[in-house]
Amino acid sequence: MNNFLIAPSIIASDFTRLADEISAIESAGADWLHMDIMDGHFVPTITVGPLFVEACKRVTKLPIDAHLMISNPDQYLEAFAKAGANNITVHVETCPDLPQTIKKIRSLGCNAGVTLNPATPASALDAALPLIDLVLVMSVKPGFSGQSFIPEMIVKVEEIRNKLNALRSKARLEVDGGITVETLPLMYRAGADVFVAGNAVFKHPQGAGAGIKALRDAVARIERW
Ligand code: DX5
Ligand code: ZN
Repeated sequence: MNNFLIAPSIIASDFTRLADEISAIESAGADWLHMDIMDGHFVPTITVGPLFVEACKRVTKLPIDAHLMISNPDQYLEAFAKAGANNITVHVETCPDLPQTIKKIRSLGCNAGVTLNPATPASALDAALPLIDLVLVMSVKPGFSGQSFIPEMIVKVEEIRNKLNALRSKARLEVDGGITVETLPLMYRAGADVFVAGNAVFKHPQGAGAGIKALRDAVARIERW
């Protein structure tokens, strides 16, 4: 499976040079722009909202992959769709009626994604899996970038990949949190095909472009095995 995507997490970038950071990852071959929307309620941190999505949309052609770590996401779906989000991913822990939320996201013309905290079992997504375009598996507790990878999430990725295969689903399986040149191959082998990376890209000593290249090389190395 060499059709895998890299989605740099903009929250780890230098906000004082946002347009340059975005053009650096775009020219380095990033596939999506991952946007961590946090409300200081579902997670301790407050980050950015629809206005930030709109601003980034003005300087990039990359699809915007909005990860809503917020309470009551249903109230904000329209705002993120209008701001230009291509994917809208919601936490199963925040949606009283997940199938309804998924339907609403799609009705707004966006790809519908679902995600779950490390402590939430894969079975929590069973009702949603036949309906979605994207599953995002958190490999850190949501709320901050630069945390250490939780290896127990590898089995969860395998479990969800098997469920998606059994459904003959075309949904993407994205992983998010602590993805580096060491951990990406583990998640790739487990069946993930989209890789969010914050620090591994934007804090790379040779810059974001080198960060993306290092992640792609990590996959090429295991493909050669
Ligand atoms: C965590 C966010 C992740 C995080 C990724 O709440 O959802 O997207 O920013 O950053 P790294 O790759 O540095 O763990
Ligand atoms: Zn994220």
